[in-house]
Amino acid sequence: MDNRPIGIFDSGIGGTSIWREIQALLPNENIIYLADSINAPYGERPKEEILKLSIKNTEYLLAQNCKLVVVACNTATTNAIDYLRTNYAIPFIGIEPAIKPAALQSKSKIIGVLATKGTLSSSLFHSTAENHANGIKIIERVGKGLVPLIESGELKGEKIKTLLLGFLNPMLKEGMDYLVLGCTHYPYLIPVLKEILPTDVKIIDSGEAVARQTKSVLEKNGILNTLNFKSKHQFFTNAEEEVLENMVQNEDMMVSVSYLDF
Ligand code: DGL
Repeated sequence: MDNRPIGIFDSGIGGTSIWREIQALLPNENIIYLADSINAPYGERPKEEILKLSIKNTEYLLAQNCKLVVVACNTATTNAIDYLRTNYAIPFIGIEPAIKPAALQSKSKIIGVLATKGTLSSSLFHSTAENHANGIKIIERVGKGLVPLIESGELKGEKIKTLLLGFLNPMLKEGMDYLVLGCTHYPYLIPVLKEILPTDVKIIDSGEAVARQTKSVLEKNGILNTLNFKSKHQFFTNAEEEVLENMVQNEDMMVSVSYLDF
């Protein structure tokens, strides 16, 4: 039994899509979430900066006595998780674009991956893509411009639609039947994506798999919280609280959202 919190961080509000899956699967766990929105998007930054920001977020979460950290950001995972795992003693859970399930299930053998520049240019992404590339064509596109819109609370509308069509049309032309969402901000665009994409194109993200992995690592380390009290969910952002608040407020849960200069 371990009632210390799980720490989660992202470059902003996108990782709340992962928080949602984790709290649904692990309702007893207390969670501290850091939205580093002042520094978003991470995806356009060089690797050294992404690493520095990931270290800063991790150290804050460790100072809050977190028992495990979920790097709820593909960009931070693909550029920093090896360093974090080597240099800190707690377990880390990362998130990477779900190429494997898409490659296994694709009938057309053509899959699209929408992610940030930081993720698509990382060596971890390249090696995962190579491992599953056998007989599969992977079409990669940087979702440039999407994260700033989502951070400002814009999840639908013409601007988002036009950007998405520009990224997806070439993939559709080539015959993609699976679209992998390789950024934790993008699941918030699923309603618009469903309007744009033909019904036979499936959308995949890694949220549920990350939650299952979190549970299994907590179990293996004997650090699950088995106390059946109402769990606490504390969200901190270093930018405006409003958009984050709208995304996570839930009357049935103990949720707080605060500004923090971290
Ligand atoms: N949500 C992040 C990801 O999963 C990063 C978005 C960004 O800051 O560029 O990649």
